[in-house]
Amino acid sequence: MADRPYVIERMISAKSIAARIEDLSRDIAMAYAGTDKLVVVGLLRGSFIFIADLVRELDMPVEVDFIETSSYGNATESSREVRILKDLRGDIEGRDVLVVEDIVDTGHTLAHVLNLLQSRRPRRLRTIALLDKPSRREADVTADWIGFEVPDAFVVGYGIDYAQQGRNLPYIGQVRFDTA
Ligand code: IMP
Repeated sequence: MADRPYVIERMISAKSIAARIEDLSRDIAMAYAGTDKLVVVGLLRGSFIFIADLVRELDMPVEVDFIETSSYGNATESSREVRILKDLRGDIEGRDVLVVEDIVDTGHTLAHVLNLLQSRRPRRLRTIALLDKPSRREADVTADWIGFEVPDAFVVGYGIDYAQQGRNLPYIGQVRFDTA
């Protein structure tokens, strides 16, 4: 698929992303008012730019940690297996934890990570996703905060890749394959 010719069509501008993150950060800071130190957990690799921008807008003390997953099997199968490639460095027991995901598609990745982190007995576990594709959902999971809802399209940019390309685009674009 990576060899097929494609174009990237702009979908969400860098300016719109920045404005949305400002709003979300305000809501999040309010939701966590009085929280001692929030642990913000980024899902690698797709969330690396989102988490960097988000924590810089959060006017409260935070710790940052990362977890990396990889999924195997046919993405259209509901039994898709998710594996942890890199685990958290820190202990989250009794802590307020905010998981940061780039895009919730089938939801298997987020569901798996939430199950795992919940078993470590955090005080409260919540999630934010920059993008949500609800029409593709297979697992019963919804992020507490969502940046933008997108249709069933393959998107790229702002940390999100297509065959490891396009992560450095400052905007979100839709990958369109050249069918000519
Ligand atoms: P899920 O487990 O199906 O929800 O997939 C989540 C992961 O798949 C995301 O964190 C992304 O890394 C990847 N993903 C899902 N949709 C897209 C897309 O449109 N473009 C690039 N990556 C995607």
